[in-house]
Parts: sequence; structure tokens; C-alpha cells
Amino acid sequence: MNNETLSENTPILVEKSGPLHGSVTVSGAKNSALKLMAACLLAPGTFTLRNVPMIADVKWMSELLEHMGASISFNENELTINVPETLTPEAPYELVERMRASIVVLGPLLARFGTARVSVPGGDDFGHRPIDMHLRGLEELGAEFTTSHGYIQATSTGLTGTRVLLEFPSVGATENLLMAAVLAEGTTIIDNAAREPEISDLADFLNRMGAQISGAGRSIITIDGVNELHPVEHTVIPDRIEAATYLAALGIAGGEIEIEQARADHMDMMIRKLGEMGMSVSPTVNGLKAAAPERLKSVDISTLPYPGVATDYKPLFVAMLSVADGVGIVTENIFAGRFRYADELARIGADIRVEGHHAVVRGLPSLSGAPVRAHDIRAGAALVVAGLAAEGETRISDAHHISRGYQDLVGNLSSLGAKISYS
Ligand code: UD1
Repeated sequence: MNNETLSENTPILVEKSGPLHGSVTVSGAKNSALKLMAACLLAPGTFTLRNVPMIADVKWMSELLEHMGASISFNENELTINVPETLTPEAPYELVERMRASIVVLGPLLARFGTARVSVPGGDDFGHRPIDMHLRGLEELGAEFTTSHGYIQATSTGLTGTRVLLEFPSVGATENLLMAAVLAEGTTIIDNAAREPEISDLADFLNRMGAQISGAGRSIITIDGVNELHPVEHTVIPDRIEAATYLAALGIAGGEIEIEQARADHMDMMIRKLGEMGMSVSPTVNGLKAAAPERLKSVDISTLPYPGVATDYKPLFVAMLSVADGVGIVTENIFAGRFRYADELARIGADIRVEGHHAVVRGLPSLSGAPVRAHDIRAGAALVVAGLAAEGETRISDAHHISRGYQDLVGNLSSLGAKISYS
């Protein structure tokens, strides 16, 4: 892995651009790769993961697995993970604090070793993100938890399958429960499970390892526990949020592009909404092709669990609405306080009024470049694409947030004709 790129915190400079033309290829999905890496903890031996994005979050998850005793090597986008017979089942503060998704090691560690010590994840820019559903579900399978000095100590004398009803279709809780239940005694049913494509990718991976999971991608997942699992090779699904980022860039700058590897069937609602805004997006043999009019039309957007509009797409929609024709109301239903980037968009002239879970976005014909700050991955991406419609220069600092989730956003947008570079 190229550490020079990963530690890159050089600001990104964007200038008014368009129309965009050409083709880009999306990487493997970050939100899938991280969970597949955690799932490797379920069996000793050598795993191969292909199409793994070379991003900071993957590097941090590697560090976490290495801390436990696994050895990992990278060859371009292929990751080889060697998991020993015995591990130190611990996720320390320094690593969990950097990346909340580390919490998904809890399920596999409990399942395989009957014990885990994991730092309590803190808050982040999306506000407080509890893990009560993860813990409650695992308790229902027979785990016990105590918390002291900022660590969760988990133990179990053997997990037993049962019906777990989730209060909300949490992605992380569904993943933790899946990875715990595969080695539990008997049958587990996860009711009100998350249905995201990344859940199906994880279930495919686990089934290939010897697990017996049916129903992934639907609300009720059934897992028949098995005694042991074995290592496999697997190719990570494409990143639908990265694909959505190029579509948003196109919507703002205009033009016609192809996005290789993107899966239209993972992005139905996004594509429908873009259609309402005046874009055409259709599948090709290898991905998607898309065209945008000179100016988008405004629509209302409401985030929901999959197959609804993903909360990760929302900053991209807010950026598009900032320059669309009309007024759009954006409602956040998944996370509290996920509108912080609206203040940054306002710095480049966007007209956005935030009221609690809602943002009212009045589209303007163009924006006005200024220095702005990326607070998280998707907020950073939204600033980048909004900069394509801003006169003058938009300079995005704290760009390291962007490299947490994108292997080469600057290079890819630049190859489509966007005026973008590291400053
Ligand atoms: C994952 C994604 C993130 C995406 C989110 C929703 C990764 C690494 N991250 O996050 O990019 O935005 O899904 O699609 O895959 N909640 C609780 N208690 C819990 C668990 C969750 O109250 O125990 C709440 C959260 O605070 C939030 C909602 O449920 O309001 C959804 O969270 P969840 O689906 O769990 O998101 P993550 O898995 O953290």
C-alpha cells in the first residue's frame, strides 16, 4: 500500500468545470471490504480478497487484524490475510477511535474464541452512534458484557441460535450478528435485518467459507450454525457510493460518462431520483452510462435504509440541489446531525437552511469558490463535486477524510475532464 498517498492531507483545489466526458472505474466497496476483513477472523488459514480499495480505512482495519496476530500483504488491490490458530482478541482504543467500523470484530471474535475486548466506540461528526443493538443481539445469542475503563469485555461459553428482532435495520448490528451466528449452535433468525448490498456480499463470503445463511438482502435472515469455517478467495462488490459520487459530479458539471464496474441494481433509488432531476442513467455490459442536462431540476430527498436513498448519498444530493433549478427538501432519517457540511457549502454560496432533520436547498445558477473544510468522507466528496460549479477556486482542506473512502477521487475526476488537483 502506498503510505505516501494515504497520509496525503494536501488540500484539493477545484475549479468550475464541465462538461465531463470519458470513463472511470469504481473500486471495491469500502463498507464491504472492511467487514469481509473482519470475517476472516472466523477461520484460521489464508484468505485472498480481490478488488479491495487502497484507502486509509482498509489500512487501519489491516492494522487492527495485525494487532491481533494476523499477517497481511497487499498486491495492488489484492489482499492476502493469514489468520493464525490463536489470536489476541482485542481491539484497542487507538484503532477503534480512528475507525468506528472496528466494532464489527466483536461478533467474529466472540464466535470463534468466546471472548473479546473491544474499546467502546466514541462519537463522530455524525453525532452519537450507539451500539446497543449490537450488544443486545449478541446477548440474546448468549454473550455477556461488562464495561470498564472504556472497554467492553465480552464472554460466552458458547453462542446459541435464537430469533433476534432488531429495533432498526442497523447495518453494523446485522453484520456483527451474522458473523456471530454462523458458528452458533442451532438456528438464528435476524428479523428486521439491514438489506444493503454489503450485507449480501458478507453473507456470500461467509457461505463460501462454509456457513449456512439464507435470506441475506431481505429483512429476515436465517443462519444455521456450523462447527467450523474455512478460508476462501473473494472479490469485493463495487462501491455504490463512489459510483454515486461520479454521477453527482456529472449532474453538476454536465456531460456524458461511463462508470465501469458500477452496479445499477445496487443503486435503483439513486438512479430513479437522478432521473427525476433530468439525468439519464442506464446499465451497460460493464457498468453504467450516464448523461446530464445543462441544469438539473430540484427534487425532494428522504434518506432511508436500503433500498431507500442511502444516507451516504445525501451530501451529494445536497451539493446537486445547490445548483439545480428550484427548491429541494432533504430529510435525514438515519443519523442525527448529519448536515454539518451545509455550513461549508454555504461558504461557497449555496443557499441551504437546516432545521433539525431537514435541509431546504434553493438552487442557484452557480456558486462562488472559497476555502472550505472536509469534516468526513462524504461531506468532503460533496464539497469536491460542488466546487465543479463554483466560479474561481474552491480549496478543500482536511482532505485526508476523503482518502479514507476514495482510492483516487482527484485522479478519476481529473480523467473525466474536471479541473481538480492537489494544491
Ligand atoms: C454503516 C455504514 C455507513 C452508513 C450506515 C447507514 C459502514 C462502515 N458504515 O454504518 O457508511 O451511513 O451504515 O447506511 O458500513 N444505531 C443504534 N444502535 C445500534 C446501531 C445503530 O441506535 O446499536 C443507530 C445509529 O445511530 C443510526 C442508525 O441506527 O442512527 C443506523 O446505523 P447503522 O445502520 O448501524 O450504521 P453503521 O453500521 O454504523
